[in-house]
Amino acid sequence: MSLLEFRNVSFENGGNAIIDNISLSIESGDYVSVIGPSGSGKSTLLKLCSHLISPTSGSIVYKEKNFIDYDPTKLRKSIAYCFQTPYLFGDTVIENIRFPFSIRNLRIDQKRINELFTMFYIPADYLNKDVKILSGGEKQRIALIRTLLFKPEILLLDEVTSALDSENTKNVEEAIVSLNREGTTVLWVTHNLEQSRKCANKLLTIEGGKIKSLEVLR
Ligand SMILES: Nc1ncnc2c1ncn2[C@@H]1O[C@H](COP(=O)(O)OP(=O)(O)O)[C@@H](O)[C@H]1O
Ligand SMILES: [Mg+2]
Repeated sequence: MSLLEFRNVSFENGGNAIIDNISLSIESGDYVSVIGPSGSGKSTLLKLCSHLISPTSGSIVYKEKNFIDYDPTKLRKSIAYCFQTPYLFGDTVIENIRFPFSIRNLRIDQKRINELFTMFYIPADYLNKDVKILSGGEKQRIALIRTLLFKPEILLLDEVTSALDSENTKNVEEAIVSLNREGTTVLWVTHNLEQSRKCANKLLTIEGGKIKSLEVLR
């Protein structure tokens, strides 16, 4: 049984097929690297996977049930999407970190927060920082921490290391590999070809909204 399945999925806008009749099966535990030229439809593919947009034709099936039969907010707790351009809301970092707890009606788990801050080299006092003064790389890591506070079943990453130096990039890669080993299924859009082959078990190449190739790496 596939965890996530695209069945003849297209996403059209103004008569243009941005995603053009894609059929694809993601298995539980997969780590899929997604590559392809700019504008080929990679981010659109992830938005479809996270139910932020819906196919104009075809269907997306998660655990043998059509996406449209799920409550979207529940779905987004299991399938987490970390955007290409990190988006932090409110005034301070803490508001972003509190959010995943508050939508679940849970108390803040300071231990988990500390664990992730340490893991991604963010000093503890950053909780009270103004989001406007953070660097691009800090925003990317805070957005990633916000996504990972609760381990998702499927993690969708869209070029999340583009503003990071090599040490931080390596660190994020290691964290994602360990999450994948613990059972999280990963789809990672990257421009970094070395990154795309290093840890993934499948390499998906998108071109012109179509699957150009799906290579099994290991
Ligand atoms: N909501 C939208 N409405 C219209 N065009 C869009 C929309 N989203 C993306 N596009 C267009 O679809 C194509 C694919 O975009 P995108 O998925 O962002 O590509 P990639 O992430 O591979 O660079 C681009 O030509 C982009 O301009
Ligand atoms: Mg993109």
